[in-house]
Amino acid sequence: MGTTHLTLTLLCVILFTCTHAKIGYFWHITDFHYDPLYTSQGDTRRQCRKADERGSSGHHRALGQFGDYSCDGSLALIESAARYMRTRHPENVEFVLWTGDILSSRFPGNEDDKYQAISNMTDLLRGTFTSHFVFPVLGHSDPSPSEQLTNLWMKWLPLEALQTFQNGGYYTIEQTQSKLRIVALNTNLFGARESQNVNTDKQWQWLDEVLQKATSNKEMVYIVGHAAPGSDSRVAYDAYSADANARYLNMIRKYARIIAGQFFGHLHADTFRVFYDHDRPVSWALLAPSVSPHRDPAGSSNPGLRLYKFDINTGKVLDYTQYYLDLAASNRAAIPEWQPEYNLTQYYSLHDVSAYSLHNLAEKLRFGIPLEAAMFHKYLRAYNVKRDAPDSCDGACANQHFCAITCLEHLAYRQCVEAAASALAAAGNSSPLIAPPISVTIALSPIIAKLVKFV
Ligand SMILES: *[C@@H]1O[C@H](CO)[C@@H](O)[C@H](O)[C@H]1NC(C)=O
Ligand SMILES: *[C@@H]1O[C@H](CO)[C@@H](O)[C@H](O)[C@H]1NC(C)=O
Ligand SMILES: [Zn+2]
Repeated sequence: MGTTHLTLTLLCVILFTCTHAKIGYFWHITDFHYDPLYTSQGDTRRQCRKADERGSSGHHRALGQFGDYSCDGSLALIESAARYMRTRHPENVEFVLWTGDILSSRFPGNEDDKYQAISNMTDLLRGTFTSHFVFPVLGHSDPSPSEQLTNLWMKWLPLEALQTFQNGGYYTIEQTQSKLRIVALNTNLFGARESQNVNTDKQWQWLDEVLQKATSNKEMVYIVGHAAPGSDSRVAYDAYSADANARYLNMIRKYARIIAGQFFGHLHADTFRVFYDHDRPVSWALLAPSVSPHRDPAGSSNPGLRLYKFDINTGKVLDYTQYYLDLAASNRAAIPEWQPEYNLTQYYSLHDVSAYSLHNLAEKLRFGIPLEAAMFHKYLRAYNVKRDAPDSCDGACANQHFCAITCLEHLAYRQCVEAAASALAAAGNSSPLIAPPISVTIALSPIIAKLVKFV
């Protein structure tokens, strides 16, 4: 009896270790901002569309075949991304996350035209990922959930998911092969404008129930949505209302143990967020850059695609490879030159992808750590997807990045930015990445000040 038991135990241990690190991959693609009227004869002063003959005021620069840094996504750009993903597709891709803003926010046309455009993008992805499920969520430039949209994505979503999607734009996917659950949110409902929408309350209730059930079923969870909570380092506009933001953070703290990752788009930037519970890093979100360039004269970005590597059984994210297209070079060469940009763990020398590791990385990005200035430059390069910003990022700018990564409460973010700004002013130092006096770092925020004490 004793030996049989031992043998069985050993066998289980061996089987467990063998199956333990079953590696899989998934794509995260976001923010196509498809503009069917993009044309290389377009005029940036006319939203990159063709100027009519009468209104045309003479000379304007020619736009690129694949797009332009001040325009939304062209069909040629999006098709080139799809083609590249097909060639880069490893054997064991499990699914695709598609996190919204499918259409340009200046999309021309009515609801039917929008539907047609989303249908075309859906066909493109169906042709690209012929035997895979794509899990879509809606962004703020997409139409509201409807029966039409639900029918469009019927091939990808199971019945239960289709029902909640049609009503509120959110759903959950249970994986048959693993204990990993995907929770796809309609983050549009977290915006201030939707606070009175009946679906807003329904989604909160549903989310709590789903996470509760996942806890009792011992499942791990990926949360997927268009916009992340917290603040953007570039604009004074928060995607979530103050109430929704606080509620979301509480939800993450409550269920942090089962949340294996949070995945968002929306910012058209490559960055991340660390979630704290009483100063302890407990969860993370990774924000993928967009397929369309970031349309901002103050700092544009190249198009990006991201392929995650994960442990299929536990959901643990192991790494990702960020791919990008040098848009200017591709337009010059008349070939879309998609290529790998970097791998997360190697690029930042991370031991693993965890809240703790990302917290440590964030600490290195804090303005005024002289030895880590190179790390901040690396971060900034990734943030713009290898598109050099016209202006360098000064001390105040660097602090905004750090505050956005580590202070997800709206108020804490503002306090973090203000404290850093006044410390910088007091130190008379706003030049890029020169070590300020130590008092600057200590004045940042209570959480950070406490951590500094222990260093
Ligand atoms: C969608 O695809 C059809 C067929 O190729 C095309 O005729 C139509 O113009 C496309 N519409 C949009 C908005 O992309
Ligand atoms: C990055 O990750 C990919 C996919 O796991 C791998 O094929 C590639 O060799 C890695 N590159 C480097 C430089 O580590
Ligand atoms: Zn967007």
